[in-house]
Amino acid sequence: MSRRLLVTGGAGFIGSNFVHYWCDNYPDDKVVVLDALTYAGNRANLSSLEAKKNFCFIKGDICNSSLVKQLLESEKIDTIAHFAAESHVDRSILGPGAFVQTNVVGTYTLLEAFRQYWLTQNQPGHYRFLHVSTDEVYGSLSPQDSPFTETTAYAPNSPYSASKAGSDHLVRAYFHTYELPTIITNCSNNYGPYQFPEKLIPLMCINALLGKPLPIYGDGKNVRDWLYVKDHCNALDIVINTGAVGETYNIGGNNEVENINLVHTLCQIIDKLAPDLPIKPSEKLITFIKDRPGHDRRYAIDATKIKNNLGWTPLVTVEEGLHLTVQWYLNHNQWWQLLLSQEYQDYYRQIYKK
Ligand code: NAD
Ligand code: DAU
Repeated sequence: MSRRLLVTGGAGFIGSNFVHYWCDNYPDDKVVVLDALTYAGNRANLSSLEAKKNFCFIKGDICNSSLVKQLLESEKIDTIAHFAAESHVDRSILGPGAFVQTNVVGTYTLLEAFRQYWLTQNQPGHYRFLHVSTDEVYGSLSPQDSPFTETTAYAPNSPYSASKAGSDHLVRAYFHTYELPTIITNCSNNYGPYQFPEKLIPLMCINALLGKPLPIYGDGKNVRDWLYVKDHCNALDIVINTGAVGETYNIGGNNEVENINLVHTLCQIIDKLAPDLPIKPSEKLITFIKDRPGHDRRYAIDATKIKNNLGWTPLVTVEEGLHLTVQWYLNHNQWWQLLLSQEYQDYYRQIYKK
């Protein structure tokens, strides 16, 4: 069945990977990207698609309900893949307001516009609203706790995760109350091409290439589960096409690693792949700094449901994914150099000044 997708946040990291994935796998589908191009959005991520007749890019805010309504109608959208968000925990600590606005109010705006439109179309059964969310809504685990399942109680700890939790609850309520065909996914830490330099893996990779310190928060023993972004896109495809409406699916990479170990592995890969490093071995650059306030200790995903019900499992190990990612950043020097703007330098100083 062909689809007509509205991809919100399609110029960001996961959204742009998803748009490339979808255009490669479903060349006859229509893909409309709606993105406000905040500091994290980059139209260059989609430049190779701009000439395609089935692709179009709209610069706009998901909180603009008349724009969203007009797009749904004029483009005859049947599927929303909702990625747009403020996504960085450290920025949510500096300024939570934008997180509440985009993540909560923006998601509400999309849901309500989609509901009105779906009603005028006589509630077609194949319409979908995919809400891409995070494992951070479940809070923090200790080392001996079992991984998060879809029924783990919500316990968000940062303004970012609280705003994502709020959006998840709205999506759930729109299914429960109005039977809007929504699906929620909660995934672990993504990494891969097109990730903005502020996040752990690109930050370490870029700093090592520039010979700058590699800042590790606290004791470095916080654990994250790493999901290669292309595995994630494949999971979202399967969820859109075969997932059950009203359901939640956890998506994980089966790659739980302590931050310090991840950075050591990354340094070894960079030393192997990068030709002219200013400082070698890169591990010499590792610097422990003051911890992130409220830093969650461990996230881990139990992805049994999506495996048993929809047949999805991740294919990329963290070693393979890190090799691919480092090589991508080495090949795309100009892409990331342009993102080290004044705004980014100001942000960097605020977070890392101590
Ligand atoms: P990102 O920050 O790289 O990209 C977000 C995109 O949304 C940007 O292109 C930005 O311009 C756009 N955007 C922001 N506010 C907007 C608004 N008001 N209107 C329209 N567009 C707006 O984020 P990402 O890492 O690609 O994450 C995508 C989604 O996946 C988010 O919802 C995030 O919460 C979720 N998620 C991310 C991860 C991860 O590891 N990156 C893990 C779990 C869940
Ligand atoms: O778990 C999913 C979440 O993963 C997503 O919902 C978020 O959008 C995404 O940003 C990510 O959140 P994290 O806070 O886990 O990712 P980040 O890359 O910021 O940090 C990963 C870990 O590394 C975390 O324990 C904090 C640590 N860290 C991070 C940075 C940027 C450092 O030690 N030093 C750093 O400079």
